[in-house]
Amino acid sequence: MHRVWNFNAGPSPMPLPVLEEIRDEFTDYRGTGMGIIEMSHRSGEFQALLAETKALLAELLGLTEGQEIVFIQGGGSMQFVMEAYNFLRTRAAYADTGVWAHKARDAAAFFGEAYDANSAKDRNYSYIPDTYDIRPGTDYLHITSNNTIYGTEYWTFPDVNVPVVCDMSSDILSRRVDCNQFAMIWAGIQKNLGAAGTALAIIKKEFLETARTDVPAFLQYRTFVEKDSAYNTPAVFCIYTLNKMLHWIKNMGGADAMEIRNKKKANLLYAVIDGSGGFYRGHAEPAHRSRMNVTFNLASPELEKDFIARAKENGFAGVGGHRLVGGCRVSLYNAVTPEAAEAMADFMKEYMRTRG
Ligand SMILES: Cc1ncc(COP(=O)(O)O)c(C=O)c1O
Repeated sequence: MHRVWNFNAGPSPMPLPVLEEIRDEFTDYRGTGMGIIEMSHRSGEFQALLAETKALLAELLGLTEGQEIVFIQGGGSMQFVMEAYNFLRTRAAYADTGVWAHKARDAAAFFGEAYDANSAKDRNYSYIPDTYDIRPGTDYLHITSNNTIYGTEYWTFPDVNVPVVCDMSSDILSRRVDCNQFAMIWAGIQKNLGAAGTALAIIKKEFLETARTDVPAFLQYRTFVEKDSAYNTPAVFCIYTLNKMLHWIKNMGGADAMEIRNKKKANLLYAVIDGSGGFYRGHAEPAHRSRMNVTFNLASPELEKDFIARAKENGFAGVGGHRLVGGCRVSLYNAVTPEAAEAMADFMKEYMRTRG
């Protein structure tokens, strides 16, 4: 079997044993004589899978306040719209940490005042600001816990007196986080937790009660809670892959084990960057570095192009930076193995030896 070292930023690799398990039961799910994508979402089998997936999420994320868990199609981008449509009554604050924060804020502007509570623009989004300017009457503060494009991550979360909504799309379950501090968390599952096509949202009941009711039923979180994510046909295959990933994470030792694994991988690459005497230039300031997306530049766009091409030739996929910012990016989500990170670190050292 041919498998490359895969560092794509999302969709991104899945663990091989998980893919194999999915393959093995694709045509016959647990003796039903049909695959999971062929059966009714109202069937006992799918209902059991859904319930188990929610229970696993609650367990692995350490939810203690009986938060509601729902699955909604439309990915992260739909969540930008839904969070504002449901919860923005007057104004909402956005932590300006990069492209995804802008998209969230711009979607919210259709529903009321959406303003930047701070901004990391002054240093090209290389850090996470730690002060928040919250205006009176603010309904919530939106943050992006990991900035997939710039490669920065929150290591301390805001202490503010408004509900905090966290876009955890690119670091959910990659480390231990106190999830009970957020009024709502949502995440596209396609980076750390499964196949693209659904987002998950975790909402505190008291926050849900503040949601508007003059919103089309399909765009109300309340509808998804009341109908247990099956108001319409849910993304059954995505939820199934999520279930498999959650079992895999649990078997690996849960959020703490993911954190150790992810820290180890990121450290390997940052050590190469820091030891390269400026050949590799890390984008994020060290105190704000992401363990999920290691972003860096070389001396010129030409050299970067060559680096990415040589990486590809050597079996490393997905190391080009985001189309909006260029440079290089190595994404190290849960499924990326420590061996893959080691191979990448060795390749970077070797490339520097020959071109430096
Ligand atoms: C942090 C973050 N939020 C939101 C999104 C948007 O997600 P989607 O492509 O599922 O709409 C992304 C996509 O990469 C992301 O990285």
